[in-house]
Amino acid sequence: MTDCEPAVAVAHPNIALVKYWGKRDERLILPLADSLSLTLDAFPTTTAVRQAPDAPEDRVIMDGVPARGEMRRRITDFLDLVRERSGIRAPAVVDTRNTVPVGAGLASSAGGFAALALAAARAYGLPRDPVSLSRLARRGSGSASRSVHGGFAVWHAGDPGAADPDHASYAEAVTDARVDLALVAVILEAGPKSVSSREAMRRTVATSPLFPGWLRKSREDLGRMRAALREGDITTVGETAERNALGMHATMETASPPVRYRTAASDAALTQVRRLRADGLGAWATMDAGPNVKVICDAADAKTVAARMGEVTGARVVVAGGGPGARLRTEDA
Ligand code: DP6
Repeated sequence: MTDCEPAVAVAHPNIALVKYWGKRDERLILPLADSLSLTLDAFPTTTAVRQAPDAPEDRVIMDGVPARGEMRRRITDFLDLVRERSGIRAPAVVDTRNTVPVGAGLASSAGGFAALALAAARAYGLPRDPVSLSRLARRGSGSASRSVHGGFAVWHAGDPGAADPDHASYAEAVTDARVDLALVAVILEAGPKSVSSREAMRRTVATSPLFPGWLRKSREDLGRMRAALREGDITTVGETAERNALGMHATMETASPPVRYRTAASDAALTQVRRLRADGLGAWATMDAGPNVKVICDAADAKTVAARMGEVTGARVVVAGGGPGARLRTEDA
């Protein structure tokens, strides 16, 4: 591959079972606590990056059209970091294709920046071992640090007192999990959200009186979640994830001004999840920065859960399982 041929990478979104909500450093994207997620086998993003030494500036195409505004700025800022680290000053051409609606709380930025990090690392000659890649992806979007890995991953906040805090914060694969989870995505709305997760997170940390309590609890949840995964205790996995996510929403709903992603349709889906449990099915809900609901269940129950969630008015249901980490298209590897 010459410098000017594109490197192409594919990555998938991840859904956190213990959420990342709150940064201690906005520029380096360092979180206040560890988080844990499952990378999915649905909604891949494919991204091609090539150096364009003769171009006047970066060219960023998203789903066939030039990226604009905040999205473009985040990508070009990320490319600046890649140039700084590689010592190669050439502008880039980035062509990215999502299969998940962007900005709708379906974690498009996680798969997006994981794919961009890998393709850019290949195109500009940066290290591509999982830890280096996870650190790099983190600088694009915090949750992207976890999508570098397949299956379950834990993102370490890193020691705030470390000599190089940027170096200390990255995600690692969780290799001792003994559950076979499915995630049933209940898509209620696919439009872009009114408040970005980045802004909502910032506002929550700065103003929500509930945030310190949630953060303390979240640190406990992480330990409980790791043990439950190891022990194959899906009930504790589900209960902990649901409480963690609903607690996160309570923190943002008590921010000033409040951020509310939950809609009447979300509440209908959450009620349906409770109904499934009352009927004896193991099903628990999680939500991110958007109105859509994801239902956590044993893979063996996924079909039943999907059929029942499909009864919610206006819901489109997609069943996902654990998926692979970010990878290069074979001929680029
Ligand atoms: C609610 O990773 O999108 O999905 O680091 O500011 O880009 P930035 O935020 P982002 O936040 C995701 C938050 C979440 C929870 C999670 O994925 O852990």
